[in-house]
Amino acid sequence: MKFLSIEESNATHLESLIFLAAEMKSTRGAHLNQPLAGQTWAIIFTKASTRTRVSFEVGIRELGGNVMFLSKNDIQLGRGEPIKDTARVLGRMVHGAVIRTFAQQDVIDFYNYSGIPTINALTDEEHPCQIMADLLTIREKLGTWEGKKIVFIGDGDNNMSRSWMWAAKHLGFEFVVAAPESCMPPQDFMDRLNAPNVTLTTDPAEAAKGAHVINTDVWLSMGQEGQAEKEALFGDYQVNEELLSNCDDKHIVLHCLPAYREKEITEVVLEKHADTIFQQAENRLHAQKAILAALVK
Ligand code: CP
Ligand code: NVA
Repeated sequence: MKFLSIEESNATHLESLIFLAAEMKSTRGAHLNQPLAGQTWAIIFTKASTRTRVSFEVGIRELGGNVMFLSKNDIQLGRGEPIKDTARVLGRMVHGAVIRTFAQQDVIDFYNYSGIPTINALTDEEHPCQIMADLLTIREKLGTWEGKKIVFIGDGDNNMSRSWMWAAKHLGFEFVVAAPESCMPPQDFMDRLNAPNVTLTTDPAEAAKGAHVINTDVWLSMGQEGQAEKEALFGDYQVNEELLSNCDDKHIVLHCLPAYREKEITEVVLEKHADTIFQQAENRLHAQKAILAALVK
């Protein structure tokens, strides 16, 4: 009834969702059943979005459901109505909710107070839907994640790096985070993760050595805009041609987007790997349809 984090998932669950996502992709336009028929879902966002909003709106409709988009400015949440009250109202009216916000606790509270299927569409802590699209893309491009070295370059303590670390814990692939010292995940997180296959380094070239997948994300996540001091730490953590010269010959580059060219990734690298990166963006749709279908089964 919920998809709130990769942390609370497991290998069997992740693998079955990727299998279903691939099936959803290959049968797009010809789905035999409409698991959301007769349902209305709410998409409640307190942060900006292009990919997540559009892929959920399209995905819910393709599965037979109706959908309403509610930005925080459209509803009383933006004027301070508590999430638990919003949840108790919407839980009596809609059949499911997709939420993008700041605190992970807010999506947990929404689920607990609404009692309806709830999906985390990004919090400061996790971006689980994106990871599902990324895993599907790796499977399509490289066949499998097993035995691969997957690297994250950038803010080691943001939602993307955290969700990736949990995916690595569950699925067992080698995962390296290359980040400035002050942007590393804190020790209490690493203790909770307890995954020997996940390592941290401040040396991006070392991390990229022999890598099959290089993954990056914005240096400043939503809510951190204008933190010039933090941004200044990332000068050595750009995904550029020099960095990629350390990788395996058949490496791929992933970026969850939006991308800031000449910051976390160069224009040249982004355009060279655009086929993969926009396939990754498209896979949001297929992966999320799998998440939705599995939730209402
Ligand atoms: N990658 C991602 O979540 O993009 P949006 O912020 O555009 O939804
Ligand atoms: N870490 C980024 C991901 C954007 C999809 C953010 O939270 O802004």
